[in-house]
Amino acid sequence: MALEQVDAYLEKHRDHFEAQLKDLIRIPSVSAQPDHDPDTQRAATFVRDDLAAIGLKAELISTQRHPLVYAEWLGAPGQPTLLVYGHYDVQPPEPLEPWLSPPFEPTIRDGNLYARGATDDKGQMFTHLKAAQAWLKATGSLPVNVKFLIEGEEEIGGVNLEAYVAEHRDRLACDYAVISDTSQFAPGMPAITYGLKGLAYFEIHVQGANRDLHSGTYGGAVANPLNALATILASLKGADGKIRIEGFYDAVKPLEDWERAEFARMPFSEAEFQADLAVPSLVGEEGYTTLERKWARPTCDVHGLFGGYSGPGPKTVLPCKAGAKLSFRLVPDQDPKTVGELFRAHVRKFTPPGVSVEVITQQGAPAVLVSVDSPGFRAAVRAIEAGFGTKPVFIREGGSIPVVGLLKQHLKVDTLLLGWGQNDDNMHGPNEKFSLADFHRGIKAGAHLLEELANEPA
Ligand code: BES
Ligand code: MN
Ligand code: MN
Repeated sequence: MALEQVDAYLEKHRDHFEAQLKDLIRIPSVSAQPDHDPDTQRAATFVRDDLAAIGLKAELISTQRHPLVYAEWLGAPGQPTLLVYGHYDVQPPEPLEPWLSPPFEPTIRDGNLYARGATDDKGQMFTHLKAAQAWLKATGSLPVNVKFLIEGEEEIGGVNLEAYVAEHRDRLACDYAVISDTSQFAPGMPAITYGLKGLAYFEIHVQGANRDLHSGTYGGAVANPLNALATILASLKGADGKIRIEGFYDAVKPLEDWERAEFARMPFSEAEFQADLAVPSLVGEEGYTTLERKWARPTCDVHGLFGGYSGPGPKTVLPCKAGAKLSFRLVPDQDPKTVGELFRAHVRKFTPPGVSVEVITQQGAPAVLVSVDSPGFRAAVRAIEAGFGTKPVFIREGGSIPVVGLLKQHLKVDTLLLGWGQNDDNMHGPNEKFSLADFHRGIKAGAHLLEELANEPA
């Protein structure tokens, strides 16, 4: 039987797959840092070449910044088409000091592969290439048609992908989409993610006097932009953890009773969660559990503050400007644009006298919520059972994957979010890792997904 040949191929090529993944991970394709532009180009070429070697028609599509990789195999007429999305770009590895092994030298410890991009998203994305390879090399064909769209600007929220998807609806047309760029609920508990948060990201600039001043000579008489910024930021959230922007919650879809019951049934210990992070207490919006806050309630966080003097020793400066980066994680049905307008109105209202303020929008993506009762979901449940030896749980997550909204908007397709990572994989942080056992389980689940989708009635 074809599937048995595929499974045998996977068993036989485990070491080879790991070696290939390490080669991909050694390329420091940091999309945010222009110094690494030749590396993002190399990573894109690596992915394109591998897809071509597997037997797909593959090409690089240059954009204003990092290239897209597109590949297809359309040899199953009458069968459904699956679009696989992934990203070959990675977050900057800094700070380097806490890494136990160099970020771009993949190193195995305790069955985990440690490196930047191991789980986000090179390791997870690669599982779908290897799944397709097993079918094509072991049987000469795939049970369904497949298209791969692998981008290099996910971590910088690039605009090139949106333009490409909008302009190539016919080329990208599909019945199902799959992304592996999320996590399992816990080790041994694979999951399908049916909800992701959206994102509205801003920079705020506060300007005071036309130059830095002596805080003794001018202090108390001239506004301090850092103080003003602190006033504005402090106005965003109340002691009850609620965001205090007028109208902010208007579009928020309340958690449904069945969902709250499901979340409460998950084997999640708030005490262990707190102990792992060594925080004195957990905080958040009143009236919600930690999982509800993490998965299904909007949040607001400051990511960076700049201004004034922070070098050694005191400096009694009254700075002339200050700034912050901050974002709101959104939930259905909040619109990033509307949130931006509400935020701007709030800032206008809470800006103290004596300074001028500018708000710059840096990123926006809507939240995602898909039905857990669809042919694609049923196929994915069976595929994960085959790959991981146990049925997946259904979860939501707090991260954002902007392409999911684009696929829904332009291709009218819901995405299957089949994450092979773990919550403690240190995505974006030092010592990022990916379990090699999960890598191989993910490949097997991906291979079975192709068969299971072919088995679903159209
Ligand atoms: N893979 C993550 C998304 C993710 C993280 C999903 C955690 C589920 C749990 C993705 O690469 C990412 O980092 N997304 C960014 C958004 C983007 C617009 C920069 C994020 O969530 O911050
Ligand atoms: Mn990712
Ligand atoms: Mn990421």
